[in-house]
Amino acid sequence: MRIDVLTLFPEVIAPALTLGVLGRALDNGLLTVCLENPRDFTKDRHKTVDDAPYGGGAGMVMKCEPLYTAVESLIGRNSLEHIVLLSPRGRRLDQQMVMEMASWTDMVLICARYEGVDERLSQDLVTDEVSIGDYVLSGGETAALVVIEAISRMLPGVVGRWESVDTDSFFHGTLGPPQYTRPPCFRGVCVPEVLLSGDHAAIDRFRRKEALRVTRLRRPDLLNALTEEDRQLLAEIGDETQLPEKENER
Ligand code: 6GU
Repeated sequence: MRIDVLTLFPEVIAPALTLGVLGRALDNGLLTVCLENPRDFTKDRHKTVDDAPYGGGAGMVMKCEPLYTAVESLIGRNSLEHIVLLSPRGRRLDQQMVMEMASWTDMVLICARYEGVDERLSQDLVTDEVSIGDYVLSGGETAALVVIEAISRMLPGVVGRWESVDTDSFFHGTLGPPQYTRPPCFRGVCVPEVLLSGDHAAIDRFRRKEALRVTRLRRPDLLNALTEEDRQLLAEIGDETQLPEKENER
């Protein structure tokens, strides 16, 4: 997959592309990310990318021309079928959107700065507008990294063991199960016995049950597509909402 990112601050994004799972995916050519600065597509002496809003008001608005020209410069390298604007006004990103995006052969990510971009860009050029949550960032750069990293995990070969993706929070519509590593007991708290048993069917069942438990406790809004087996497991846990669990005190 190929992702072209239009950003006024490529320095924010570039270092994160060299590290960890994402760095390896790029090294192995499973994913290509190219950074372009709209400032390089300006024609005036001052390389102007923003201007005051018509009608007045605080802040600046990103101009049409540099972003349009930057997108046009990608013709032949990118199909331009998917031009995604990162903005708090966009549709809120979730795992389903991430998987859809991961099926695309390429996309352009536009990082908005200042008070946003000229509305004519959103209307005529942009195909999707995406937000990463209900809070305000100073720019779309960190959001672009979120999108790129989430997509990369869905590309075949990026995450070494598919089981890692399989147990991720949200992959099966719930939060992930708790995980433990050595030692078996730490300061008097011991790892659940079943995880040391070697009984893989019992371990799978335990993990699904704990995933459902924590999801019902913290994110009951996610529990809308339960299988019959999930219902059975939840019934076994019973109604814990009245128990004085630490979680309930938040
Ligand atoms: Cl994509 N951009 C900005 N500036 N703020 C955000 C966001 C994006 N998603 C949530 N808040």
